[in-house]
Amino acid sequence: GHPIAGSEKSGVAAAQATLFMAHDVILTPLEHTDPTAIDIVTQLWEACGATVTEMGVDHHDEVLAKTSHLPHMLAFSLVDTLAGNPDNQDIFRFAAGGFRDFTRIAGSDPVMWHDVALGNKSAVLEALDAYTEGLATLRAAIVETDSQALLGVFSRAQLARQHFSSLLEHRKKRTNGAGLAEQTEQSNMDSMKETTQTFLVNPGGTINGEIRVPGDKSISHRAIMLGALAEGETVVEGFLEGEDALATLKAFRDMGVQIDGPYQGRVTIQGVGMHGLQAPKGPLYLGNAGTAMRLMAGLMAAQSFDVTLTGDDSLSSRPMDRVVVPLTEMGAAITTTEGGRPPLHITGGAQLSGIEYELPMASAQVQSCLLLAGMYAKGETATLAPGIVRDHTNRMLAGFGYPVTVDGHRVAIQGGGKLKGCRIDVPADVSSAAFFMVAATIAADSELHLSHVGMNPTRCGVVEILQLMGADITLANQSVVGGEPVADLIVRSASLKGIEIPARLVPIAIDEFPALFVAAACAKGQTLLTGARELRVKESDRIQAMADGLTILGVDAEPLADGMVINGSTKPAVFQGGTIDSHGDHRIAMSFAVAALRASSAIRILNCANVATSFPDFAGQANRVGIRLESCVEGVPVTR
Ligand code: S3P
Repeated sequence: GHPIAGSEKSGVAAAQATLFMAHDVILTPLEHTDPTAIDIVTQLWEACGATVTEMGVDHHDEVLAKTSHLPHMLAFSLVDTLAGNPDNQDIFRFAAGGFRDFTRIAGSDPVMWHDVALGNKSAVLEALDAYTEGLATLRAAIVETDSQALLGVFSRAQLARQHFSSLLEHRKKRTNGAGLAEQTEQSNMDSMKETTQTFLVNPGGTINGEIRVPGDKSISHRAIMLGALAEGETVVEGFLEGEDALATLKAFRDMGVQIDGPYQGRVTIQGVGMHGLQAPKGPLYLGNAGTAMRLMAGLMAAQSFDVTLTGDDSLSSRPMDRVVVPLTEMGAAITTTEGGRPPLHITGGAQLSGIEYELPMASAQVQSCLLLAGMYAKGETATLAPGIVRDHTNRMLAGFGYPVTVDGHRVAIQGGGKLKGCRIDVPADVSSAAFFMVAATIAADSELHLSHVGMNPTRCGVVEILQLMGADITLANQSVVGGEPVADLIVRSASLKGIEIPARLVPIAIDEFPALFVAAACAKGQTLLTGARELRVKESDRIQAMADGLTILGVDAEPLADGMVINGSTKPAVFQGGTIDSHGDHRIAMSFAVAALRASSAIRILNCANVATSFPDFAGQANRVGIRLESCVEGVPVTR
């Protein structure tokens, strides 16, 4: 067996009781190894807090050659090369963090690494050869001043590294949550703190200026998926460089698709065709992204290889049976954990057949999932939704030259077609713009210009609801870009009145209710929302999270099973100060940041790191227009 834990220090003095906690141990039993013995050894490691995986010996040697032995060879060789040259005598004096981080492992035991290098000779050599080739490519790019190639290598590596960090973070949190016997309450709290991002929002202010919020999340996900499966190149402009869309981008890279960027919102995808994806080397980790998981379930169900889709704590608790049930009816082989939750284990090689499916809820994710699976299915796949759902998939499929038939709420697709690479201009996300629409409406003396906002009629229920409440929102420069309507919005302060939210607007404003609840708290009279049960299964239970937060801030808000009743107030300070838990939900965090504009004292919002899933520079843009928000990581201010 091999515990994947340790440090560059060895010997009894370096002992650490918690060394194996939340680490992997690989066991490499042989065919004749006694299963009882394996069981005992497994229990031993698990009692130390480790996760045990079994692997063949050769596979172990190959994997470790790349992930551990190669980095050690590089660190030893780098230090030796530099230190061996008399001209470099100063290096250790001036060596900064980068050198220190990169070469830490060169402090490890020389005899052990001598034995590893020779003991695993062929796999280590193979890894060294692949690395040498990569280094030669990088060298050539520098010699030829090939910026595109250099940026390509650096940005791909940066994204892969960031993704790796968030994967580790996720593992750490899960392990803490599992409550290992040895782990004290305090150490749990400490490791939670490490990942804590807090917003401290000072009260009052006016909103002015002009901003363009980041690209649409729904469209960004779909652009990567369809671009990857298309024939030829797809160029995406305005791509959302948020964690959710980047998780999708990384997943397709892991399936062998060459994707360059994003550089300033531009992504170039070399499509591999409908059957060109390759099996990923491990599970695809999709972070917080529900759209990625549900849409990809449809695509993955039709591939020839097996795939596992995983996500963070929030995603791991969200219902997936809504896609698994109809996909299974189409012939897919998918297993979930209890209650239809992720991870999804999808077995490749299934032959899908079209079905006629009536969606139990108005969900674009379910509809899109089935349309994507339908591209691979025999015959026609049709979905009938119980209301309007966002139609980006249909529009984008048409843009890629794949016909879709739309008849009211029924959308159908024929299997066996092809996608042709194209250009996609991603508009600013109306869901992100919504926070600023509410901000400029509820703050006194405000006028805000929001440019190039997506105004797809299946998405902009928020504008209509705010207008029904009395908001002053004007649309200018309306146009259609790449099949999606866009406009510039001018939003001015207004007095709001409470309304009963019309049922037809609920599914087309579903992501905007947290922000709309803040608007309702600042409206005269009562606002009533019903028919929005779906809010209970978003990134958090948004009905409960918003009702709790509003109540803490002194608002009369009553949660309903499928909505909320809010009795608003028109006082200059509607909200009192207080501390709110966003439950790691980006939209809850941003909504309460906006509420501070009408608060009597500061609002502190906990667990804001996931704002980066949809709106990485929210704190920066909020400050630019007049929200006095300080973002703190582990208590240290990072943005003002
Ligand atoms: C999305 C659909 C909606 C929405 C989500 C994005 C999409 O979810 O809430 O943020 O991109 O298809 P449902 O399909 O669950 O309503």
